[in-house]
Amino acid sequence: MCGHRPADQLCARAELGDTPASARFVSVTRVASIPLDDEAFARRLEHQLGVVEARLHTAVAQADRLADDASRHLVDAGGKRLRPALTLLAAELGDPGRPQVVEAAVAVELTHLASLYHDDVMDSAPLRRGAPSAHEVWGNTVAILTGDLLFARASATVAGLGAEAVRIHAETFERLCLGQLAETVGPAAGDDPTEHYLQVLSDKTASLVGTSARYGAMFAGCDERTVNILAEFGERVGVAFQIADDYIDLVCDGALTGKTPGTDLREGVATMPVLALRALVASGEATDDDRALLAQLSGDLSCDDALADAVAALREHRVVEQTHARSAALCREAVDLLAGLPAGPATDALVAFAQVLVDRTA
Ligand code: IPE
Ligand code: IPE
Ligand code: MG
Ligand code: MG
Repeated sequence: MCGHRPADQLCARAELGDTPASARFVSVTRVASIPLDDEAFARRLEHQLGVVEARLHTAVAQADRLADDASRHLVDAGGKRLRPALTLLAAELGDPGRPQVVEAAVAVELTHLASLYHDDVMDSAPLRRGAPSAHEVWGNTVAILTGDLLFARASATVAGLGAEAVRIHAETFERLCLGQLAETVGPAAGDDPTEHYLQVLSDKTASLVGTSARYGAMFAGCDERTVNILAEFGERVGVAFQIADDYIDLVCDGALTGKTPGTDLREGVATMPVLALRALVASGEATDDDRALLAQLSGDLSCDDALADAVAALREHRVVEQTHARSAALCREAVDLLAGLPAGPATDALVAFAQVLVDRTA
């Protein structure tokens, strides 16, 4: 599982190992499916995903026309919904039918949505979920305020889940903001850039993925040990997912991801492939081509052709394959944690879900 593969195959559809012929594939992230052998489980999951989807659309509604249009913009545009899917899958280790499970799944997607409005302003990203980013449509002020409105809705949803859920949500959002801040500021003098980068990923992304899994187990009534294993699984798989996002930004088609390839490069956000190339050059073992590539990446990429050339050149370099390998290794570590849980369809589904996160194409 989570196997290493050459860069030119990174965008291939996830292979899910030995899948029983009887298995039903359930679309858990709206771009990738996992095989579920247990018919009742598959039906329940599909139903719950539908309920979450419907709730999300009502949860973002606003009486004010502009606030409503801007709030619906990204929820209507698409998205993988992987965080609510993880909440629902984690809940399968307990009683998935408890009503708080769906509310928790809605809350994590609302929180994620809020962060996307702000992130696209910060990253000057023109596209999100295949649609123009909110700031392209309405400008930065409306985009930022819409993110705040969605965060308010997430908070209201979490408030219905009790004080412990509110505390976890607040801590999660604090880490998410600190991760975004640390990415913006960059490593301090003397800090290891790769360690800094991994901490950024852990805080800006894995915090919410971990909470998605934690909430699922918590509100399904799982014992504390199970909740903690799932939270840690989510944290690790969250880092693997964000590293995967960084190479997907380079190797996959913008038509599939719904984002503009190379946005990180253009904005000067050093992600794992660039950090690995810098480390190679610093080690003294780099070739002239490696050094020329690093110089190209450090140049002016504001024009579309220059960015496309830089993306194409980096895509061919072995650091991209190394990045995928690192993401796959983290995914395996996450999956190893599940050995502490009872074997069964829920654990199998979580394994398949982890694999989809790193082998996805969008
Ligand atoms: C995008 O998350 C932001 C990251 C933390 C990488 P997703 O890749 O889950 O975005 P959507 O929800 O599918 O649009
Ligand atoms: C997004 O990180 C993280 C959050 C929204 C908290 P990125 O900026 O790397 O993700 P994309 O590529 O825009 O989705
Ligand atoms: Mg971004
Ligand atoms: Mg960003």
